[in-house]
Amino acid sequence: MQYRQLGRSGLQVSAIGLGTNNFGGMFGSMKDPDICAEVVHRALDLGINMIDTSNSYTAGVSEEFIGRALRGRRNEAIIATKVSSRMAEGPNNMGNSRSHIMREIEASLRRLETDYIDLYQIHRPDPTTPIEETMRVLDDLVKSGKVRYIGSSNFAAWQACEAYWTAKSLGLTTFVSDQPRYSMMYRAPDRELVPFCDAYGVGILPFFPLESGFLTGKYRRGQPAPEGTRLAKRDGGRFTDANFDILEGLEAFAQEQGHTVLELAFAWLLAKPSVSSVIAGATSTSQIEANAAAAEWDLSDDDMAKLNDILTG
Ligand SMILES: NC(=O)c1ccc[n+]([C@@H]2O[C@H](COP(=O)([O-])OP(=O)(O)OC[C@H]3O[C@@H](n4cnc5c(N)ncnc54)[C@H](OP(=O)(O)O)[C@@H]3O)[C@@H](O)[C@H]2O)c1
Repeated sequence: MQYRQLGRSGLQVSAIGLGTNNFGGMFGSMKDPDICAEVVHRALDLGINMIDTSNSYTAGVSEEFIGRALRGRRNEAIIATKVSSRMAEGPNNMGNSRSHIMREIEASLRRLETDYIDLYQIHRPDPTTPIEETMRVLDDLVKSGKVRYIGSSNFAAWQACEAYWTAKSLGLTTFVSDQPRYSMMYRAPDRELVPFCDAYGVGILPFFPLESGFLTGKYRRGQPAPEGTRLAKRDGGRFTDANFDILEGLEAFAQEQGHTVLELAFAWLLAKPSVSSVIAGATSTSQIEANAAAAEWDLSDDDMAKLNDILTG
């Protein structure tokens, strides 16, 4: 496994990570904690240390399954969890206030069966809480030892930049990472966020890197989606002729070089210097094995230019 620095932190994270929003059955699978534990154990055995979750995935069940799976193996994992989502009724049970974060960190630690979180991420911006309040409570959590590093997710570049300078000017801990939606089929971060991360040394943890499985090659134009797969339930608007045109172009490119489109989906993201770990989800040990092997392909500048032509038509 290849390891990369998480932004400018001293933390080394596996280039391939494991996303766990499906743990607990958010997408109808992975309801069984033993199956989830098998996937986690196989990931650790393959050298994957980055495991991404959230307090909100299946209302905390994802964190519980991870805590259970990591019994006896806690030190092998970098646990990245999140806070912000609504967790209960009432005005103070969501968002990035001191009140909500202080309550939720305790609940996450309990579910994860640990006394520290490696990377605590703000799941999304909260326009009603001043960013100074959020950065101060996160700094307190780092100082207390409950949290080792902090990150953001779904921040616009200006919000990540505002958070950086707020923390910096107050002498507080800064975010080491951001987690945006980012893949070959969703390149909006290339405009503002990726240049910000490159300039400020912030590590990128792309979510939906496989476009929920569309970029694995198992969905074919005009054919029903394989039974039991996530996109068989709902394709989220992905099964269009325009998207299949791109997918088929990417498959031809990958095949010419002796690779699969799945490997290309990882390689394209890992060709971006600020990408630290590609946190793809997996529903079986064979998927995590295929994903772990995908970090082997280094794309050249010429490859990236050709891919840009395919992606932009
Ligand atoms: N910060 C945020 O707001 C946010 C939002 C969404 C997700 N996330 C994080 O990002 C992670 C990744 O996103 P994601 O899991 O939703 O989507 P994804 O990584 O784009 O797709 C994962 C899905 O693709 C299929 N798959 C994975 N590897 C495969 C392989 N080798 N062969 C065939 N199929 C394969 C599996 O689904 P099937 O087997 O069912 O086909 C798997 O659940 C999440 O788990 C979560 O941790 C964060």
